[in-house]
Amino acid sequence: MTNSRELFQEELERLLADPRIRKLENFPQHNGSNTLKHCEAVAERSFELAEKLGWDIDEKELARGAMLHDYYQYVIKEQGISAYKHGTSHPAIAMRKADKDFKLTNKEKNIIRGHMWPLTFLHPPKSREAFLVCLADKDVAAKEFAKPEIGKVRKAAKRVKDIVLD
Ligand SMILES: [Fe+2]
Ligand SMILES: [Fe+2]
Repeated sequence: MTNSRELFQEELERLLADPRIRKLENFPQHNGSNTLKHCEAVAERSFELAEKLGWDIDEKELARGAMLHDYYQYVIKEQGISAYKHGTSHPAIAMRKADKDFKLTNKEKNIIRGHMWPLTFLHPPKSREAFLVCLADKDVAAKEFAKPEIGKVRKAAKRVKDIVLD
């Protein structure tokens, strides 16, 4: 396997410095995260998974697809749409916006279009990179959702301990 962490990191940093991508900081994600942080976490996780699985990937396309997978640029709550509707519609919106601003390859388009699969049943991931982003997105989102829950469990555990010890 010949994946280059340097090449991936270089591309990631180029993207993170782009003012159009920095704008993603203004859009909230699950539980206090924002879309910029979320996309960076998904990019990191995608590369980690590629390494774990021993999959050869294109570093640049993986970084770009991951960083742009949620490039829809609206606040979900302000749209008056259901979570389901957002879930099924934002990949196409993100893909169109990202293609307009960054001129995507076909693989990058599919990484973005397929990242909610199997929810978007007719648009599956068609490359290793697209599968990795699809998996990493679910993994990162689950952790973002779980964060407050973990805090509650810790507090509850501490209370239980106090009661037991007192
Ligand atoms: Fe998404
Ligand atoms: Fe996402």
